[in-house]
Amino acid sequence: RTPVVLDVDTGVDDACALLLAALHPALDLRAVTCVGGNAPLADVVANTLTVLDVCERQDVPVAAGAALPLLEPPGDARHVHGQDGMGDLGRARSTRRPDPRHAVELLRDVLLDAVERGERVTLVPLAPLTNVALLLRTYPAVAAGLERIVFMGGAAEVGNATASAEFNVFHDPEAAAVVLDAATDLGIEVAMYGLDVFYGPQVTREEGQELAALGGPAGLAGELVVFQCDRFERPSATIGDAGAVCAVVDPDGLRSRRLPIRVELAGTWSRGRTIVDRRDWSGDLAHDPHGQAPASIDVALGVDGERYARLWR
Ligand code: BDR
Ligand code: CA
Repeated sequence: RTPVVLDVDTGVDDACALLLAALHPALDLRAVTCVGGNAPLADVVANTLTVLDVCERQDVPVAAGAALPLLEPPGDARHVHGQDGMGDLGRARSTRRPDPRHAVELLRDVLLDAVERGERVTLVPLAPLTNVALLLRTYPAVAAGLERIVFMGGAAEVGNATASAEFNVFHDPEAAAVVLDAATDLGIEVAMYGLDVFYGPQVTREEGQELAALGGPAGLAGELVVFQCDRFERPSATIGDAGAVCAVVDPDGLRSRRLPIRVELAGTWSRGRTIVDRRDWSGDLAHDPHGQAPASIDVALGVDGERYARLWR
């Protein structure tokens, strides 16, 4: 089984991802860390604990991390995810308390423990990268415990939070830059599951209704699908962040290219854009004021949507 840790801002589609990570037999979910993003941090923690309760995975430690991005005031996405951040489904929330450690400390402990055991963990951030940036800056030695980072965020083409930028990167561009640069600085393998594939795996309203009728974790999954269909008035909904978990279980469902990437940190209309260099030449360092080569990461450019939707269902 692949050891994984999720970093989330639950979040309707983070909930979809947690359900898969908590229950798929190929994955060994070792911890979940929370960050402010789609909803304020307290809601993210409560939603995350609730999903794991539904999965009867109270054994998985959940820790609260950064409430705010590194630099800018936050803006959330409750207009997309509902007032409670998880579809306003009217379910009772978990009363469980999170792990007393800060998310960064929990991540450090899990990763250094893996190093001691001679294992490597896949870190799957599905949210603004604040916690992960703080982790890599504070405890760079955790790199030895990382198999790779597979993050949902960014886009080679268009954005969603703005015309240029994807939400998770836009929310904390500095943090995203730190994490991408870790591919170079710390030699960490990084894969980007961005908006170019995010909307590929879709589940229909009818499939959602069938799942909802089953109760338990499948029931929650179905309710989340139906919520999205209703909110966006569409006949189907993306599994969203859950696709990045599918990418860990079934990497062959993706078409990726290794490409240079940078995060735009300035820009009037382009702050938070991931600039993916798809030219068939590189070597523009002469034009780079920092003289530093861009990170080179695996960028997902195509997905077998039906394959991932089936895996998730
Ligand atoms: C990302 O932003 C959030 O709204 C979703 O949970 C997902 O992680 C998509 O841009
Ligand atoms: Ca998310």
